Parts: sequence; structure tokens; C-alpha cells
Amino acid sequence: MIFFNNEFIEKNQAHISVMDRGFLFGDGVYEIIPVYNNKIFHLNAHLLRLQASLDSVKIKNPYNLKEWYNILSKLLGFYDNKEQSIYLQISRGVSDKRKYSFNDLTPTVYIESNPLLTKTKQALKAGFSAITQPDIRWHRCDIKSTSLLANVMYLQQAKEKNVEEIILYRDNQVTEGATSNVFIIKNNTLFTHPTSAHILSGITRDLVLKSARACHIPIKETSFSMNELNIADELWISSSTREIMPITKVDGKLINRGNIGNIWNCIYDYYQSLKNV
Ligand code: PDD
Repeated sequence: MIFFNNEFIEKNQAHISVMDRGFLFGDGVYEIIPVYNNKIFHLNAHLLRLQASLDSVKIKNPYNLKEWYNILSKLLGFYDNKEQSIYLQISRGVSDKRKYSFNDLTPTVYIESNPLLTKTKQALKAGFSAITQPDIRWHRCDIKSTSLLANVMYLQQAKEKNVEEIILYRDNQVTEGATSNVFIIKNNTLFTHPTSAHILSGITRDLVLKSARACHIPIKETSFSMNELNIADELWISSSTREIMPITKVDGKLINRGNIGNIWNCIYDYYQSLKNV
């Protein structure tokens, strides 16, 4: 079952017009929201970021907070799995002809949910590989836009090279991953790129920072260079579906001789405890 334009229907019953601007231009925004033990994790933060994305591209939010909550709760009622990943997308809607500029349209809303299979701590401790690439994306990465062609190409490359993620850099400074935020530990201090138009302000990123405070780790929201990444004591990526994942190999070279750090351990445990709040 999915939610499509005000209705709960079977996925194969949902159809969009070829004039939908989501289809023609990738003209839309989205969110991915995890659900743990049947509870939507940090829904308000996701809905606030959704509102910010919508405002940035001048699409009117079709629902208020209460309505979103009711729609998502009802949708989750159709699924058995207690751990879910909700995918929610809003496109600008259907125009009468293909032109770049737009008038006020009725947004197209699509929501589906899939079982969320998070990796166990034991599996995460194996460590994961990444490669680096120049960040070729536009200068509004803070908008969670469905125009994802650069990210699609990055992830295809990750698949071909058999690595977990592509870590991006702009002017030699690490921005974020193609689908995640990036953190390093150096001398017991946590570094991550500051929120700006060059990264998506991850909801998990915020929770990593909260976890770091709980673990008494000093935080520097300042960018770091490619060289600093290579000599980091610890390197992690974060996202709603991956949680906090240690990266132990970048471009074929080991980080911290391939060891998982102690700080990750504390951050991971605290993050898990947030699921029961
Ligand atoms: N990706 N940066 C980028 C470019 C992302 O695509 C994501 C999330 C993040 C982390 O954001 P959050 O912690 O709110 O999930 C950072 C999602 C999961 C995706 O599009 O698959």
C-alpha cells in the first residue's frame, strides 16, 4: 500500500502524467524517515527540513504537521515490519506544457515505506570502504531535491567499484558523501563540514553531534582537507538508513590501520539509546 495524492492505494494503481514536473525536470523534494519499533524517528526534524526544502523551491506544503503525522501513521498501519524506511516525495505538479517557469500547481505527493534493515553493531565493526571524487553538484545541496543525477552517477560508480560510499570534496575540502554526511576524529576531536549550501543538513548528523556531546567529545563544525581525512584517527558516515557507519578504507588506503575507533563505539551506543526515547 502507498499514499498517492490523498489516497491509500496499491502501488501498481498509482500513475503520474508525463507532464508531471517531477518526471520532466526532477522538480520536487523528498525525505527519507526511519521508523524504529513502530515509532517515527525524529519526525518533526524531518518535517521541518521538508518545509525548508519546499520553501527554497517555492512549492506549497500540501499538509500541516498534524496531517503529515496522520497520513504517515495510517500508512505504517498497513505494514507488519516494525522497522521501516519511509520515502516521501512532493513534486511541483502537472503543467499543461513543458516549460521551465511555473505557475501555482497542485503538488503530486507520493509516499511509500519499506522494511529498514539496519546492520548490526557486529556487522558495522567490519568497517567499510569509500572512494573520493570531486563534488560536481550544484551550490544548493542543502535542498533535499529529487534532482539527483550527480548522486545517481556517484552511486553507480560505488556499485561498480564495490565500495559503500563516494566521499566528495570541493576545493580540497571534504563536503559530504553522495548520500551521507562525513565525520572524522583527530586528536579526540570530532570534525564535520558546517551546515551550508554545500551539504545536506542530515538529521542523523544532528544526532551524531548530540551523541558526541553525550560522549564528551569536543566538536568542531569546520571543514577538513583530503589530507586530514587520510590521516584521521576515525572516519564515519551517517544517514537515516545507514545510521553511523565506520569507514576504514579510502581510495584503497587504510584509515587508522583499518581499526574501528573507541569514539565510534560510544557514539554508536548513544545513538541506539535515542531510539527508545
Ligand atoms: N540520504 N547528505 C546527502 C547528500 C544525503 O543524500 C543524505 C541522506 C544525507 C544524510 O541525511 P539524513 O541523516 O537526514 O538521512 C546527507 C538519504 C538516506 C537518501 O537519499 O538515500
